[in-house]
Amino acid sequence: MKRVFSGVQPTGNIHLGNYLGALKQFVELQEDHECIYCIVDMHAITVPQDPKVLKEHILDVAALYLAVGVDPEKSIVFVQSDVPGHAELSWILTCNSYTGELSRMTQFKDKSKNKESAPAGLFTYPILMAADILLYDTDVVPVGNDQKQHIELCRDLAIRVNGKYPDTFVIPDGRFLKEGARIMALDDPSKKMSKSAENIHSRISLLDDPAKIKKSIMKATTDSEGVIRFDTENKPGISNLLNIYSVLSGISIADLEKKYEGKGYGDFKKDLVEVTVKALTPIRERFEEIRNSEELIRILREGAGKADAIAKKTIERVKGNFGLGL
Ligand code: TYM
Repeated sequence: MKRVFSGVQPTGNIHLGNYLGALKQFVELQEDHECIYCIVDMHAITVPQDPKVLKEHILDVAALYLAVGVDPEKSIVFVQSDVPGHAELSWILTCNSYTGELSRMTQFKDKSKNKESAPAGLFTYPILMAADILLYDTDVVPVGNDQKQHIELCRDLAIRVNGKYPDTFVIPDGRFLKEGARIMALDDPSKKMSKSAENIHSRISLLDDPAKIKKSIMKATTDSEGVIRFDTENKPGISNLLNIYSVLSGISIADLEKKYEGKGYGDFKKDLVEVTVKALTPIRERFEEIRNSEELIRILREGAGKADAIAKKTIERVKGNFGLGL
């Protein structure tokens, strides 16, 4: 069975983009893959965090994993900092990375823009991400399009290390969904939907109630043509909404275009509200059941134990190949 690894940062506001780009894949893949899903808290501290809030967000993301359908009987679910191998491997990879390739990462460029100095962790962030993936001999990494460059760097590092120390790493592949991989902001479809945007109506969070979902969708930016047609170039707002509608309902975009021929944006948006509320309500309800349960902590502890056992074997092998330790 092929092995899958992926992670989400515990930074609150987990949204429809995270769900359609990544979490939905997590659930599908666990049927015929060995899946490991992580809450990457060490990535979160590359920017300042309030410790109490961070702890809550870790549990929120863990509960959301389960609420969307990740099954702890089938998949390993754990918190990154509970397995020391991530930090160990990250250092070994850091020594095999170049500052030039790291400074080409667009996420780093965006996050450090207009700042005189940025935390070194923000710069080396993609190395920790590569360590996450390589630590588990991962074959497949389900992520949204925004992580493409990081996955490429991970592959480059693995290939580079294997060139010097043969058979150290398995070379992973990214897995990007055609439709869900890039969900755009509702208020500005030229930007991706993000956890940190100031306008709460730019995103639909997985835990939004029906009234908030309605408000955000009804306010979503469209265009003045009044025709429901998929055309990302000229109609990015409507195309984004069609995309969301299609992935949530399972109806193809072509069929949606036919269904709404001659109808206005108002009707289309009202139906999209209904489809979104129907998709997210069970997730919100399951989240409420799981979030404060003892069971959640037990699942994360057990998951960390299983992940650690796999990680230890990789660290042994890597240290052996590098000539590290006794
Ligand atoms: P993060 O926490 O920003 O996002 C979690 C996942 O959601 C995807 N995503 C989107 N997909 C579609 N449309 C969007 N608007 C959108 N916004 C976010 C992301 O691509 C991601 O799959 N660096 C990663 C976390 C990470 C990781 C890893 C992932 C750390 N180590 C190892 C995979 C493997 C991140 O910050 O994701």
